[in-house]
This record gives sequence, structure tokens and C-alpha cells, in this order.
Amino acid sequence: MAEPFIKSQFPALMEHSPELIYLDSAATTQKPAAVLEAVQAFYLHSNANVHRGAHALSIKATSAYERARAQIAQFVDAESPESVIICYGTTHAINTVAHGLTHQLSPGDIILVDGAAHHANIVPWQQLAKRTGAELYPIPLLKNGSIDLPAYQALLQRGPKLVSLNHVSNVLGHANPLDVLIPLAKTVGALTLVDGAQAVAHLPVSVRSLGCDYYVFSGHKMYGPTGVGILTGKRQSLEQLEPMMSGGEMIKTVRFEHSEFAGLPNRLEAGTPPIAQVIGLAKAVEFIQSLDRQAVAEMEQSMLRKARAGLQQLGYFVYGDPGNCHGALAFNLLGEHHQDIGTLLDQQQVAIRCGYHCAMPLMEHLGTKGSCRLSVAAYNTPNDIDRAIEALAIAKDMLSE
Ligand SMILES: Cc1ncc(COP(=O)(O)O)c(C=O)c1O
Repeated sequence: MAEPFIKSQFPALMEHSPELIYLDSAATTQKPAAVLEAVQAFYLHSNANVHRGAHALSIKATSAYERARAQIAQFVDAESPESVIICYGTTHAINTVAHGLTHQLSPGDIILVDGAAHHANIVPWQQLAKRTGAELYPIPLLKNGSIDLPAYQALLQRGPKLVSLNHVSNVLGHANPLDVLIPLAKTVGALTLVDGAQAVAHLPVSVRSLGCDYYVFSGHKMYGPTGVGILTGKRQSLEQLEPMMSGGEMIKTVRFEHSEFAGLPNRLEAGTPPIAQVIGLAKAVEFIQSLDRQAVAEMEQSMLRKARAGLQQLGYFVYGDPGNCHGALAFNLLGEHHQDIGTLLDQQQVAIRCGYHCAMPLMEHLGTKGSCRLSVAAYNTPNDIDRAIEALAIAKDMLSE
């Protein structure tokens, strides 16, 4: 597969080519022309609200929207299109679950959360614990940031009601061994949520094979538009959720005394959904499916190996397990502030992310306030890594002057 051909499908990258090296895809990926065109085409030719009108344009919009839902369901091997709930992003999807479970938790119930979780996968559970009197515990990590399996097994003995896990860490790129972690959680009867925000662009996902109750991800991290995310999982587990939002579209009947809610998926989709974004997301699915995914994953991993070796040769410290790295890696130049490195790279038109990456507890575990993070996607090339390493060498020289 020729990566320059992939890059040529991304107008924003071509506009800034060859100067800009974009290594911040874990924050958000660039969008291929096909996605941009699909969003524009919807507004140009089919714009109408869905599920509402008897008129032709609304019927056209509704069928495009529902077709997109079915494509997304097939992409992650969801149980059915009805078990694909359209949300506004991963954060919204996790909040939907955390709010939806409020009535199921009681004081003293235990919630376990991945020690390497993104804040979007921590704070909603804290709020749930506050509302219900439940207790939240982090799943301990090994020194390198991977889950400490014996410690996880010991915590499971306390009978948690819910276990929430990363699929892939947004900082270290570690993929959790979900084939081990989820069955273990199930043996003690816990509900499981998997945050797939950093996984769907890099790994094939089968929600049915994972067997988790809830799986969530964002469109904008998989070449799709912002403003759309997905909550899927087991039908029965989704049906257990009390709707966080209520209003139009999610009801069967409304009387002033009482309203009856609709079934899935509408029950959890109050209000006008992000129609154009969903249609754009289905195009992003088609884009991913047009790639040789195995070849792309191998290329991404080889770029990350190259980056790790180059960084280490320059004297940068690279975090995490080198044998388990998908999409992103984190590093620091010890003694220097991560932000300074980011700024010096930006001056050389190399875009990376610096900070705590919405993962303060993980940063604390790694013994730092923040780090630099370099992340790759299908459009990156080994040349991008060479350019980044050159820029990092210059940054190091400048900081040591
Ligand atoms: C692992 C992970 N979870 C959740 C989120 C939140 O995603 P969003 O901001 O699209 O809701 C992110 C975003 O960086 C993430 O990387």
C-alpha cells in the first residue's frame, strides 16, 4: 500500500504539504475528501430532519441516516443496528451509561475504572458514585502503565457492579487484553464498558466477540466528523439504561400526566440527532474498509517503532510497553518541560500534543505532570517520522544551549 496515495485523499494535509507533519491523530484525525463531500452533499441535496416528515426529502434523509447506522453496526460487529445509539462523542456516550445506571447502584456498590483511563472514562463514574453512594476504585497499573492483572483479579473478588476499561490508552497506545479482562469481570457478574475511542481507527473491533455490555467511540478519531459518537453493546444492557436526556424522538406517547418511552435506539436519542455527521461517519467507515487494514496497522506500528528508536537514540525517555503500542506513544526529555518541546516542534511544523492528555492519574502513576505524545494514522509515512526525529534533535540542541 502506498501511503502517499492515502495522504492525497486528505485535503487539509495536502494544503499544508510538504511542510506540515501531522502527528496528532489521537487528538483528532484529519478527514478524507469523501467524508467532507458526503457531509456537504447531505446539506446540498437531502437536508431534512429525520423520522419526522411525510415528505420525500425527509424520507430520503431518514433512509440515509438509518443506512449509515447499519454500516456503523456492521463495522464494529454490533448485535444489530438498533443496538447502535447515536451520541455526540465518547464523552457523551459514557455519560449516557453512567447516568443511565444511576437507579441500579446503591451505597457501597463498587465501580472499577482502568488506572490508565481518559478523564471522560473517570469523571462520569465519580459523579455516578456521588449520586448513588457507590465507591470508585482505580484498577492498579504496573510500572510501565499496563494493567496489573493479579491486582485486578484481587479487586474483582470485592464484587464490583461495573468495570470500565480502555480498549487502547490515549497516552501509551497500550491495547488492553480484553479477551482476558472482560471474561474475568463477567465471572463476578460485573457490567463492563470499553472505551474504544483510540481503538477503532487502528484495530478491527467485534463488539459481539468482546462480550462487553457497552462499547463507546468517537467519529472524529476515525476520520469522521466531530459531533458524533457511538454507544453500542448488548441489547439487554442498553435497555437497562434510564435515558439521560428526554424530549422529542425518544417517546412513544406523551400526555401531561405521563409519557411512554420508545424502544431502542430512539429511547436513548432524544432530540434531533447529528444527521450529517452520522452520514459522514458512515463514509469514514467506508474509507477505513477501503484500506488494507492489516498493512496499515503494520505500517503504523513500524512508524512507532522507528519513532521510539529515534527518540531513545537522542536521549528522550519513552514511556510504556514497546511490544504493545497502537497509534500513540508518549515521551519526555527529562529535565525539560514537555511544552517547550512541543513549541519547538511546532516552530518546525511538526504537530504533536503536549500536556497531561486528559489522563492526570496515569501521568501521576508515570511520575510526571505531563508528556509529549506523538500519534500516527493511515496517512502518515516513515518520512514523517524522520522529519519529527530531525525536529526533536534540533529541539534538544536548542534546549541544552
Ligand atoms: C481514550 C479516550 N476516551 C475518551 C475520549 C473523549 O473523546 P471525545 O472528546 O471525542 O468525547 C478521548 C479523547 O481524546 C480518548 O482518547
